[in-house]
Amino acid sequence: MAFICDNIGVDNEGVLTFAGQNTVRLAEKYGTPLMLLDECKIREKCRIYVEAFRKYFPEGSFPLYASKANSFKQIYRIMTETCMGIDVVSGGEIYTAAQAGFDLKKAYFHSNNKTDDEIGFAMDHGVGYFVADHKSELIEIQKQAESRGIFQNVLLRLTPGIDPHTYEEVVTGMIDSKFGTAIETGQADEIVEFALTLKNVRLKGFHCHVGSQVFAEDVFERAAVVMLGFCASMSRKFGYEAQELDLGGGFGVPYTINDSTLDIEEKIKSISETVYRTCEEEGIKPPVIHMEPGRSIVADAGMTLYTVGSVKHITGYRNYVSVDGGMTDNPRYALYKSRYTCYIANRMNEVKDMKCSLVGRCCESGDIVQPDIMLPGNTVKGDIAAVCTTGAYNYSMASNYNRVCRPAIVMLRDGDSYVAVRRETYEDICACDI
Ligand code: LLP
Repeated sequence: MAFICDNIGVDNEGVLTFAGQNTVRLAEKYGTPLMLLDECKIREKCRIYVEAFRKYFPEGSFPLYASKANSFKQIYRIMTETCMGIDVVSGGEIYTAAQAGFDLKKAYFHSNNKTDDEIGFAMDHGVGYFVADHKSELIEIQKQAESRGIFQNVLLRLTPGIDPHTYEEVVTGMIDSKFGTAIETGQADEIVEFALTLKNVRLKGFHCHVGSQVFAEDVFERAAVVMLGFCASMSRKFGYEAQELDLGGGFGVPYTINDSTLDIEEKIKSISETVYRTCEEEGIKPPVIHMEPGRSIVADAGMTLYTVGSVKHITGYRNYVSVDGGMTDNPRYALYKSRYTCYIANRMNEVKDMKCSLVGRCCESGDIVQPDIMLPGNTVKGDIAAVCTTGAYNYSMASNYNRVCRPAIVMLRDGDSYVAVRRETYEDICACDI
């Protein structure tokens, strides 16, 4: 049997394994719905990124984990141990990282609309870098840095106008975008000129992020060319030399066996060749490079386990297999029609002869985990359904819709398992209610 990731397998009894562990036994031990995360896989990905950055990019370059992909205390501890920086987008992510003891000097604070309170909160927590989105944010950073008597490192988020050829909801680097400032319209020049006048703002360089789940050839290389061209033009125009360039995240991952796979090291090597070549052509010193992978660090480290409730056959129409989670722990099909690979974990050697939709337990027809998949025809209540590649943008986008409790996150490490985030309780659900 071929699997989308090398941490998935089947044991002698025909049971699905993940990171070498029996998934049915994990479901029995921790209950369902359950988010499993293969810690060794996460560490392996971090190591690949960190080593490739050291090998191929200018000295001082390091990758940042885009923690919006999956944010909880233990993941920030792993990022500390693997020498990653982090990308944070809210006071909540900053707080979580701080609680985990992450050194926030290696944190880059994004968002197109940081509140004034969050700006102050980030400064008070010593967040190393702000990725400023627009002019009024710069004004606020200047004001708050001055009042604290500090100098704040800042990158400016720019839109290079590159189409990443992915789904519309995750495109961010085009000119018509709520994010950043456009290069093409000349507004980027204006914001650089303005930033250089601010006494407490240390303009370190520029940032762009073209989109997510990107496979298309050359997208990152083309973004690098545009951004470095912009750096060169700022050097000619204002004598300003950018020390850092952050090329964002977005490397795609396979969700089904037909999707392509991206070789991270090869991709970084290719981007680095473009960076050095372009810097030479433009006559500028190669800046320190950062990138912000999120999905490609955690997606295939994740698997969700559910217990099957009802199996419904609507004669002449469709079969429905309902599970005890759904859009509350994985809203990605509802939002983006995202594809997933699904199994019945205790029936891996049985023939998949039932076309059905795997659906959630919410009061909403759109609560579909995956439509039109093939599962064994003898699937019954009590079976364990498994959805692969759920490590990114599942738990972090989970909700309490219908007052459903969020699942637990269990980490798998070297044949062992431990709870990293406990399952929510009904008391948690009411915790904020007066
Ligand atoms: N940097 C910035 C500025 C970003 O906006 C993002 C993702 C990343 C880095 C990380 O991109 P990644 O390497 O994970 O592709 N909820 C959507 C994905 C939204 C991505 C938002 N920004 C999904 O479930 O597909």
